[in-house]
Amino acid sequence: MKENVPCHVAVIMDGNGRWAKKRNLPKMAGHRQGMVSMKEIIKHASALGIKYLTVYAFSTENWKRSNEEVKGIFNLLVSFVDKELRELHKNNVKVNILGDYLKLPGDAIERIEKTLSTTKDNTGLVFNIALNYGGRRDILEALKAVLQDMKTEALKEEGIEEEYFKKMLSTGRLNIPDPDLIIRTSGEMRLSNFLLWESAYAELVFSQVLWPDFTKEDFDKCIGEYNERQRRFGGRQELDKV
Ligand code: IPE
Ligand code: IPE
Ligand code: MG
Repeated sequence: MKENVPCHVAVIMDGNGRWAKKRNLPKMAGHRQGMVSMKEIIKHASALGIKYLTVYAFSTENWKRSNEEVKGIFNLLVSFVDKELRELHKNNVKVNILGDYLKLPGDAIERIEKTLSTTKDNTGLVFNIALNYGGRRDILEALKAVLQDMKTEALKEEGIEEEYFKKMLSTGRLNIPDPDLIIRTSGEMRLSNFLLWESAYAELVFSQVLWPDFTKEDFDKCIGEYNERQRRFGGRQELDKV
């Protein structure tokens, strides 16, 4: 692909349940196949020279699902980071987690932390997994951190500017810029509590394809659509100016 690639692409990986249902398979089969898509998209994003790739893997609202499904999703994610660690590291990928992964079982935390520490100095693709993540909760946590700074760092109200606040969000803490493009698969057209602050000027692209069927060609189509957009950030294009 010759077009410009966005610096940060975020993906709402949706449609695993429907994929399985269509095939009369258990939901977990959809989640499992979804991991295959994720692997392919990481590799592809890295090859395209995308700097940041963020995937929405488990939301704060996904706890509403059955115990069995929740456990199954966590197991898949943890075994993914475990099994793929060597490959990710070899490809110079740096892995981050957005969200409260400390709510996961002890051995899962250990394996996640091993992945984070092994890849922390890598300089290639920055791959962020939003896991037990919710945009609203992230903003509330940031607010609490601000209040703490007001107490301990003598921060004044005037000092609470956008740039400072962004630094308090989980993306800001990890120096992850706002997403340029957010892709959601499976035809749903909503954010479902994903990157609420950071998505202010993201381009949104919706694909009808269910996540387990999503290929690198589908990803390229989304990038193509992104490249046709005119980003204005509230201003005017040169040609519009009169
Ligand atoms: C996305 O697939 C994965 C998670 C939310 C964890 P879903 O499981 O939401 O799939 P659908 O929306 O039911 O098809
Ligand atoms: C959003 O998908 C969360 C993830 C993809 C992890 P959901 O399937 O949970 O979203 P809703 O419930 O359709 O809004
Ligand atoms: Mg869904």
